Amino acid sequence: MTDEPISASGRSPRLVTTRQQLREAIQTYRQRGKSIGLVPTMGALHEDHLTLVDASRSECDATVVTIFVNPTQFGPGEDFAAYPRDLATDLAALGRRGADLVFAPSEEELYGPHHATYVEPGGAAETLEGAARPGHFRGVATIVLKLFNLVAADVAFFGQKDYQQTLVVRQLVRDFDVPIAIRVCPIVRQHDQLAMSSRNAYLTPAERRQALSLWRGLERAEALYAAGERSAATIAAAVRNEMAQGGVVVDYVALVENGTVTPVEKVDGPTVVLVAGKVGKTRLIDNRLIGG
Ligand code: PAJ
Repeated sequence: MTDEPISASGRSPRLVTTRQQLREAIQTYRQRGKSIGLVPTMGALHEDHLTLVDASRSECDATVVTIFVNPTQFGPGEDFAAYPRDLATDLAALGRRGADLVFAPSEEELYGPHHATYVEPGGAAETLEGAARPGHFRGVATIVLKLFNLVAADVAFFGQKDYQQTLVVRQLVRDFDVPIAIRVCPIVRQHDQLAMSSRNAYLTPAERRQALSLWRGLERAEALYAAGERSAATIAAAVRNEMAQGGVVVDYVALVENGTVTPVEKVDGPTVVLVAGKVGKTRLIDNRLIGG
């Protein structure tokens, strides 16, 4: 494996686009006795993704970032075609952040014409995002299993922002005995607390202001809990109200036992408040732990 030159902005990560190149690069790390961290992404990288790279670099010898806008996790009418793609900018950011290898395959490379097997996740995949976006977690579980097999990393890093996704991935690892450790990193927010997301790029300035009501809803949940409120229904209604007043078309507000998608009636332990809604045409999600 040849190393790229070091520029003023950092060392460019090596870019591979085929499974064969990836396997060879991984084999080289293994031969050198290096532990491997995997950061799966769909690109359009921001600080949120880059903190996952930091986490991997602090735990593993080599950090592999995958960039693939996975068609199978987008439903009909969702934003697959419009999803932001900018490989050159992503590579520059990953270089500054010290990622070692980037795997950015084409759709044909990962899903050839004969691809016919999909992972059908049950359990944690069945409600909330799973209900709102039929087939979404099937696509996520399928691509994540493929990436786990291709990269054969020791540790994979995911963001708490996609809370339910982390549960589905943990479930996949458990049920299919995948030899990989899963780490979940905290939500990265902008200065005004809007959770970072590649989809924020779709928002007009007015919509961006409306989007803040997701966070305000979560703040309200925390404030009510701090004031002694324990009824999940009361807290959920207040969050819903805050979001609706802010101009969000609420999809769901749910209070679940931390680490599960099991709804709670009373907040008497660590509880995750999950929110989802649309601002204009853009669907946003966020969450916050209360009672922990
Ligand atoms: P993507 O949306 O690109 O996100 C890649 C990773 O970044 C995910 O683990 C996600 O949870 C994390 N992330 C996104 N926004 C975050 C934020 N504000 N704070 C912390 N982490 C954040 O999630 C996917 O891609 C795909 O479903 C994927 C797992 C790559 C499979 O295709």
